Amino acid sequence: MKGVVLAGGLGTRMHPLTKVTNKHLLPVYNEPMIYYPIKTLVNAGIDEILIVTGGNNAGDFLRLMGNGKDFGLKHINYTYQEGEGGIAAALSLAEFFADQDQIVVMLGDNIIEKNIRSAVEAFRNQKDGARILLKEVSDPHRFGVPTFEDERVVRIDEKPVHPASMYAVIGIYMYDKTVFDFIKTLKPSQRGELEITDVNNFYIREGRMAWDVLDGWWSDAGTFESLLSASNRVAKTGANKL
Ligand code: G1P
Repeated sequence: MKGVVLAGGLGTRMHPLTKVTNKHLLPVYNEPMIYYPIKTLVNAGIDEILIVTGGNNAGDFLRLMGNGKDFGLKHINYTYQEGEGGIAAALSLAEFFADQDQIVVMLGDNIIEKNIRSAVEAFRNQKDGARILLKEVSDPHRFGVPTFEDERVVRIDEKPVHPASMYAVIGIYMYDKTVFDFIKTLKPSQRGELEITDVNNFYIREGRMAWDVLDGWWSDAGTFESLLSASNRVAKTGANKL
């Protein structure tokens, strides 16, 4: 199993913080944001990791993390995304790296309190398909939101005005090798992006999507408010606990 951290984008939602740096290099309490998803993957036993980044500050990732010594790694892979195209477009750059293997994809601005070891283990034992993680939240309209029917997720809506449940699809996604062929068929959404929610709905339609509820808190850190609350949570309880 291989890991992919998506850390591209221009971070325009966070100007002026992101005018001269990449969002994923901003501090979350005492570490750069990107450290948290890398540690999540390493804690789940994944040591082959690709960072997808972009923009004007891509070189800073190399200077910051080098070959991953801070994470106990011997090597980190990097690739560069031209422009912005959405999460699924960034993920498509990982096809060569994945090389038919199962992958765990994590958004570079997602932070968790605990770990995803049991979900990754379950995915390892899953013959094929995909697996998502859900978390109950107070503001589902900010996220991808699942609709349930008899314990089954039958659909995900991206940032719905009227959420069908109080769960968010968090930014940790597990896929088999078919994901890349499907991304090639995607069309940009209304916001001009290739949506990861469309990828997940593809697996759901095929009956090949499993899900778990994440244990411990989860936060994104991609808005001023969530960056502050993520920092406060990390300061209070720590993150990536085993
Ligand atoms: C993205 C996904 C959304 C998901 C969220 C998790 O949203 O599109 O489905 O719930 O990440 O952080 P974005 O951060 O692009 O608004």
